[in-house]
Order: sequence, then C-alpha cells, then structure tokens
Amino acid sequence: MAASPDGNTSNRKVEHIRICLTEDVQAHGIGAGLDEWRFVHQALPEIDLAQLDLSQQLFGKTITAPLLISSMTGGAEWGARINRTLAQATQKWGLAMGVGSQRAAVENPDLRYSYAIREIAPNVPLLANLGAVQLNYGYGVEQCLVAVQMLEADALILHLNALQEAVQPSGNVNFKGLLTRIAEVCEKLACHNIPVVVKEVGNGISAEVAQRLIAAGVAGLDVGGSGGTSWSQVESFRVKREVEQRAASAFANWGIPTAQSILWARQAANDAPTQVTIIGSGGIRNGVDIAKTIGLGADVAGMALPFLKAAEQGLEAVNDLIEQTLRELRIAMFCIGAASIQALQDTPHLIRV
Ligand code: FNR
Repeated sequence: MAASPDGNTSNRKVEHIRICLTEDVQAHGIGAGLDEWRFVHQALPEIDLAQLDLSQQLFGKTITAPLLISSMTGGAEWGARINRTLAQATQKWGLAMGVGSQRAAVENPDLRYSYAIREIAPNVPLLANLGAVQLNYGYGVEQCLVAVQMLEADALILHLNALQEAVQPSGNVNFKGLLTRIAEVCEKLACHNIPVVVKEVGNGISAEVAQRLIAAGVAGLDVGGSGGTSWSQVESFRVKREVEQRAASAFANWGIPTAQSILWARQAANDAPTQVTIIGSGGIRNGVDIAKTIGLGADVAGMALPFLKAAEQGLEAVNDLIEQTLRELRIAMFCIGAASIQALQDTPHLIRV
C-alpha cells in the first residue's frame, strides 16, 4: 500500500505479509454484513447443476467465474514468490488478479521483476495498483502508465486508504483535492483505453463517495468493505509507541460493512450514464459469500487474505482454495435456481433476515 515518505517500502511490504500471516488482522466488532442476508432455498431449482455458467466479463476479457484475487503484494522477493504462485493459479482457472501497490517498482526498476506476472498469466485480466493519495505526492498520469505497462494490465486500481495512512506515524495524510486528480487520471488513461478502478482497502465506500467517483469517470468501484482484513489492525502491530497502538486499535470496528457498501455502489452505478463495474470485497471468505456479493449487485467478488495464506503454503493450496470456493458458489447458485451470473444478480431469493 502507499508508502510513508520516510519508509522503506520493500521492508514494509515484507512486514505487511508477515503480520497478515501471523497476527489476527481481522476487523473486530464489525462483520461484512453478509450474515444479515440469506438465500431462500429452492427445493425445486429447475436447473441442471452440471450446466451452470459462471463466466463473467471483466474489462474486455471473459473470466470463468466472478472471482478476483485482490491486490496484495510485490516489491520484495517474498511478494514476488506470492505473486507468481497466485498468477499461476489465476491463469489455470481463468480468473482475475490484482497486484499490490507498485510504487516501489515505479521508483526502483530493480523491483519490477516482482510484479512480472504477465508471462505467467497471459490470458487473464491483471489489475495494476497504486495508492490514490500518491497523486498528491508527485505522482501523475506518467507514473500510472508505468504501473500499467509493468504488468501489461487490463485496468489500473487506485486504492483509497485514508484510515491506514492516518494511524501510521508518518503516513501520507494529505487527501485534499484528490477527486480532481483521480478524474484527471481517468480522463487521460481513457485515451490509452485503460479503465480506472477506485478501491477501498477495508473500510468501504459510501453512497456519496460512490456517486462522486463515478461522476469523476471511474470505470469500476471495488468497495473494499469492513468485516475482513483491517488495516488499522495491521498497522497497530507495526507502530512502535503504545499510544499509537491503542489509537490504531480503536478503529478495529470502523467502516462500512461490505454488504451495505455493495448496495450503495450498485445503486450509484445504476444511476450512472455509463457502465460501471462493481467489485465486492472485504471479508469474503467462501463461495456462499461470493454468491451473496453477486446477489447484492456486485459483478465480481474479490478475496485477499485467504489467498495470501494459501499462497504461502504453495500452489496446490491455492488451487484447492479456488476449487472449493467455486464449488461452493456453484452449489449455492444451484440451490436457488440461478443458472448464470446474470441470473444470480437478478435473483429474488436473497432476503435480509
Ligand atoms: C492488501 N490490500 C491491498 N490493497 C491495495 O489496493 N493495494 C495494496 O497494496 C494492498 N496490499 C495488501 C497486502 C496484504 C498482505 C493484504 C492481505 C491486503 C487490501 C486487499 O486488496 C483487500 O482490499 C483487503 O485485504 C480486504 O479483503 P480481505 O483480505 O478481507 O479479503
């Protein structure tokens, strides 16, 4: 994620991986909101489980299922290994994948190898990533294009991480005027046919922010809602002083639950004159969660932490996780009689309990 000005980006990335693998970094006192929604089981689904079509369109490519391995890492050897493992699985299953913030490699070409996954995953949507706030710290269209070209990416994600920056001792906290800069990047990258997605990293996107980002020209929104990995929790394990630790921990239950944020983002997208892709992420932990995410209005669901843990175990664990997750999604769709992703999005069988 976006670096603090005095930080060593590569070390920080290793620390983030280590903390996410060894500490409890889930949000506390807040869920993704998906438990408030239940499918009404259809004893007579009237479809054939063997004939479900999970395919979906994402930024001009067809993916075999609406699953994105969310932006996580790169910029260090550990991250490079994880990216390569995830890219192999993404290609094998025909899914989509994001990489972590490429700032380190934009500034230091020696680190670009850690994001070089296009050769491993030639056919799938790959999403580049930079912190949106960097647009207030000297970054512009040029750096965005470097990030995209590094990955031969199908889209650029700009992540919003205000809370994470704020709980760090020297985070990049000047978010003034950012919307105008995001709008400029959207406009300029559109000339290169590169869609721009704006993403939260675990605190959700409100209705108003969704509307403003769509008006600024984003092609997609990834709600990155609360209920999964909490970046204030991650940072609470990094900061040194107790005062800072306690202040970071106070935000363990901060944010907008993923389910609510998807509903708002979908509404904003429906009101927009152009097509806006909605990615539902934050605390998605199995295929039933994905089904609910799509049923609430997302086009694609994103999962991060479960894939980090699997990638650390190796390719087989990642393949197993994908197989299990898609199996769960398929069964959920079958049991509500939804034969396609469109049918799942339109289902009348998802109710609030
Ligand atoms: C992330 N995430 C993230 N997001 C982003 O846009 N740029 C980044 O560089 C990173 N880095 C990163 C590192 C690690 C180790 C993790 C686990 C996550 C955030 C991620 O994409 C996602 O939005 C949140 O983690 C919420 O999803 P989960 O983990 O609850 O599925």
